[in-house]
Amino acid sequence: MKKPTVTLTDNRSGKSYEYAILEGTRGPSAVDIRTFFADTGMFTYDPGYTSTASCTSKITFIDGAKGELRYRGIPIETLATQHSYLETCYLLLNEHLPNSRELQNFDLEIRHRAYIHESLRLLFDAFPNNAHPMATLSAAVTALASFHKEHLTLDDAADYHTMASRLLAKIPTIAAFAYRHSLGIPLIQPDIDLSFTKNFLTMMRAYPGGKMHLGSNGHEEIREVEVRALDTIFTLHADHEQNASTTVVRGVASTGAHPYVAIAAGISALWGRAHGGANESVIAQLEMIGSADRVETFIARAKDPDDDFRLMGFGHRVYKNFDPRAKILKRLQDELKEELGLNSRLMEIAGRIEEIALSDEYFVSRNLYPNIDFYTGIILTALQIPKNMFTPIFVIGRTVGWITQWIEFKKDPTSKIARPRQLYTGA
Ligand code: CMC
Repeated sequence: MKKPTVTLTDNRSGKSYEYAILEGTRGPSAVDIRTFFADTGMFTYDPGYTSTASCTSKITFIDGAKGELRYRGIPIETLATQHSYLETCYLLLNEHLPNSRELQNFDLEIRHRAYIHESLRLLFDAFPNNAHPMATLSAAVTALASFHKEHLTLDDAADYHTMASRLLAKIPTIAAFAYRHSLGIPLIQPDIDLSFTKNFLTMMRAYPGGKMHLGSNGHEEIREVEVRALDTIFTLHADHEQNASTTVVRGVASTGAHPYVAIAAGISALWGRAHGGANESVIAQLEMIGSADRVETFIARAKDPDDDFRLMGFGHRVYKNFDPRAKILKRLQDELKEELGLNSRLMEIAGRIEEIALSDEYFVSRNLYPNIDFYTGIILTALQIPKNMFTPIFVIGRTVGWITQWIEFKKDPTSKIARPRQLYTGA
């Protein structure tokens, strides 16, 4: 049987060109245009890559029309409600969920690797006290590359594993250090007795030298409900196929640079408001709106083509029905409202925005729905996490996705240096 193809005709010359249609296991097919330039002398033009599959991948599947997200074939709803973040990391890296012994070993390894080199700790002193933790985090992850130079020549599975677990373990420590430095308060070292997520919350909130914590809702200790909420947030952020920061990570990987600087570049890309930085902007925007009766004014601004104001936490390049991560978080928010003492004023403003936007023709016709970032801020605020740490928390969750994508890129024999062309319109 003849393989499926598409035929493109150049209407100037009448010449036709035939290209194979590639089928994945799920989702849209792709036209293989790798020889297009050689065949026709023309480029394809696709700013923002809205119609381009830049690679094949076995990691994450998204159906934007159905609002479906799966890691290694497992629905996000199952992972978020029945598995921990570390189990999800193991799944992404190893293509299967861990059994109890595998999980125990992985967990122990991550606990062991959470410390950072004393010399790297000194780097934090070079930053102004009011530095944004994302700037410090990105710089410190780049600096970490100088402590693990051997990762430049990774070439087998054991090396990949060590690189992955080092980054997974150390990034929360670096993020917490960046935060504490931004406040000018003493750094708290990781505690090997604590689980991944509890350890991070402790490094954020503990008083130096003691077990007392900056209380949440009148509680001095970190409560299991808080750990569960943050762990779920990490899981929901763990991977999202070829988003902007992952594309940057693969791009840096394609040049043969150290894997940590590829991750640092991903951190920088994530910082922007259109991507991971949206979570910080959502809360800033809710605070700016101030009360539910002012929502309509801001909705009008978001719809005004002459105003560049956008509703933060709304819209998505891929999800055109709903963002399944946002659905899970909204449910979690409702479940934990009392236990976490969520800010009812912010929730009321957010609820009003949602109510108006979901029925307004402007938002409905453009398929603009609340995304994951719309809901994270309210939960993170209740966990005593300040706004400037929201995007670093996205980084902690996404690190495993970036590493897994980096490894997949390296193992793929069809990988090439990322080098798009352009349609020159200059002098
Ligand atoms: N508020 C108001 N209008 C919007 C918004 C918004 N949040 N998002 C998109 N639009 C309008 C946009 O003005 C355009 O209208 P028109 O067709 O009249 O010109 C139309 O919707 C399409 O927008 P676009 O910018 O072409 O869509 P995109 O797919 O390139 O951008 C996006 C996707 C997420 C960057 C965008 O929706 C946005 O800026 N949202 C706010 C920031 C945000 O919440 N980002 C987090 C994304 S989810 C977390 C992550 O994965 O990083």
